[in-house]
Amino acid sequence: MKLTLKIWRQKNSEDKGKMVDYQLDDVSPDMSFLEMLDVLNDQLVGKGEEPVAFDHDCREGICGTCSLQINGKPHGPDSLVTTCQLHMRKFNDGDTVYIEPFRAKAFPVVKDLIVDRSAFDRIQHAGGYISVNTSGNTQDANAIPINKDDADKAFDAATCIGCGACVAACKNASAMLFVSAKVSQFALLPQGQVERERRAENMVAQMDAEGFGACTNTGACEAECPKGISLTNIARLNREFLGAKL
Ligand code: SF4
Ligand code: FES
Repeated sequence: MKLTLKIWRQKNSEDKGKMVDYQLDDVSPDMSFLEMLDVLNDQLVGKGEEPVAFDHDCREGICGTCSLQINGKPHGPDSLVTTCQLHMRKFNDGDTVYIEPFRAKAFPVVKDLIVDRSAFDRIQHAGGYISVNTSGNTQDANAIPINKDDADKAFDAATCIGCGACVAACKNASAMLFVSAKVSQFALLPQGQVERERRAENMVAQMDAEGFGACTNTGACEAECPKGISLTNIARLNREFLGAKL
């Protein structure tokens, strides 16, 4: 396939940035999207030009770093896949592909397609954990029976990889789907009860402090989430937060 790529280039966080056109021939439909960018970067380096900076790590849909806005959609045109799992067979010969970083005030661009998502880390630090004694006298996990339905819901929430697609998809750049997943994975389990109230309060307060917008229930986050995190988690977060305040 021959593709025209329109890629956001930005030297650093101060630079204004602009879209730059590149032509790429011989793109295999079996390449992943990131492999296609690797080929482009090889060619740029060969010509003595600066390669396109983009984030990636696992390339298996696990780490959540490969967050790109492709033709206006977080993680591109496919459903329930991350950018690293998107394949070029989803595009056609002669296509023009727009590649941009995720856009949100709380995700400032570091360089080209890389954004700073440390706001998510700070939200996690505010309460997205449980305090457990690991000094050698820990209880066996199976000693506490857990209702299967709750275990399944907690597991589904725990599959959130913190990619930020929910924020990029939302017209308000809201992080509610992410925060709700991180609150739900503990709120549903006995191990998460001790810090339950302050977890909801502190994580929501940090989310607001980071500059994420409010949720107006449009559902774009759920539609674009590569892990299928459900909006029902946002309803749970609202209940958790209200319960904590009361
Ligand atoms: S809720 Fe979905 S879209 Fe948002 S950070 Fe988690 S995995 Fe990514
Ligand atoms: S590189 Fe880890 S999820 Fe894509």
